[in-house]
Amino acid sequence: MADGRIAVIGTGYVGLTSGTCLASLGHEVVCGDVDPDKVARMSGGEVPIFEVGLEELMQQGIAAGNLSFVHGSKEAARGAKYVFLCLPTPDGGDGRADLRIVHQVVAEIGPLLDPGAILVTKSTVPVGTAKEITRTLNRDDVSVVSNPEFLQEGSAVKNFMQPDRVVVGSDDRVAAEAVAELYSKLGAPTVITSAESSELIKYASNAFLAMKLSFINSIAGLAEVVGADVTEIANGMGYDDRIGNKFLKAGPGWGGSCFPKDTKALATIALDRGVSFPLLGATTVSNEEAQDRMADKVRESAGGDLAGVPVALWGLTFKAGTDDLRDSPALEVALRLDTEGALLRGYDPTVTADLPAKNGFPAIKAAADAYDAAAGAKVVVLLTEWPEFADIDLTKVAEVAPGAAIVDGRNMLDAERVIAAGLRYIPVGRREVR
Ligand code: UGA
Repeated sequence: MADGRIAVIGTGYVGLTSGTCLASLGHEVVCGDVDPDKVARMSGGEVPIFEVGLEELMQQGIAAGNLSFVHGSKEAARGAKYVFLCLPTPDGGDGRADLRIVHQVVAEIGPLLDPGAILVTKSTVPVGTAKEITRTLNRDDVSVVSNPEFLQEGSAVKNFMQPDRVVVGSDDRVAAEAVAELYSKLGAPTVITSAESSELIKYASNAFLAMKLSFINSIAGLAEVVGADVTEIANGMGYDDRIGNKFLKAGPGWGGSCFPKDTKALATIALDRGVSFPLLGATTVSNEEAQDRMADKVRESAGGDLAGVPVALWGLTFKAGTDDLRDSPALEVALRLDTEGALLRGYDPTVTADLPAKNGFPAIKAAADAYDAAAGAKVVVLLTEWPEFADIDLTKVAEVAPGAAIVDGRNMLDAERVIAAGLRYIPVGRREVR
């Protein structure tokens, strides 16, 4: 157990998961948030996000007395030895991360930190932020450490408790080792670096994974033209240890709150320093093309024109296992279909209300289930890999949408079964079976 209390500032996906998991390792953790209602709900053991295993762990921490929630960052930081900043760092509009919230909080809590306290940046922050925070703080007796998170939404608790690695970076080696020590129970490889390397490891990891996905999605486009099968190609590539078999599933493009923002931010970090990095721009362009190709498939399946055509969307979130719609490829595809006049009805297990037209996205009517969404549709497009879609009763789909085409954006369904039910089947990166 740590020799001092941990404060976690910000209880979004990263803060709440990190705080709860650190408490489950035996540390004393106080999480602070600006939203008093949210603090009240969390204090009562209610998890405001959809994350497997989090609620149970949070309730255990509260019951054990070493996890609590307070209103405000000052209240959390006062008297803490470790202060984890888990604050939003959104795209500032020009691809650069907007660090205003981070700096505001540092200015607020800086003067009241105990001598010997360690400020830890957990949010994804641009290279040089640890140094900048050190300047803002202007305190010789407080250290700043970068400790990026590698949590995937939907499996964040598992990622935290069984990490591939723990990365800690600082110019203050003793402080870095103290932060690394907080994770010692996990027995993960620990990488101690400079603050700049640690900050860059996070961006490089996310951008690399996004690039891998863009690559396989472009291979999918090529496979369709040459008569190959992207799942066979991914399988054949994945046995090479240097490539690895993960993150090679073709789909409607990648999204979420991290990959798009971090890939763009890394591109601007390089640009701002005059370093050429063409792969990053191409990674984003390839992703938009994957979304275009998905919309093309739907249009072609509808006979070349989407005006007034009822289209069902299966899945709306950016991936399965989350209720997060931020930068969802499903919505990007929906937007393209809407622009061409398609009538959209969507089903997602975590989205029960209609989606309003907002931020350039179309209004989508929420359906009660996958069959309800498909009723009367000419094309059904599977966009998010929710496991329940693999078990769908295709005969029932054919009853409510006779002769419909199913565009399987995640290659989840069995072609023979879809065709046997009397439906058309259009996969991604492999030939259409007729
Ligand atoms: C990502 C990283 O994977 C985490 O390591 C990182 O900590 C996190 O961002 C972050 O920076 O906070 P996450 O945004 O939860 O995690 O999403 P992923 O599971 O990485 O999926 C990203 C996108 O890629 C989704 O749209 C998903 O559907 C897509 N994907 C993933 C594919 O299309 N094919 C695959 O084979 C894998």
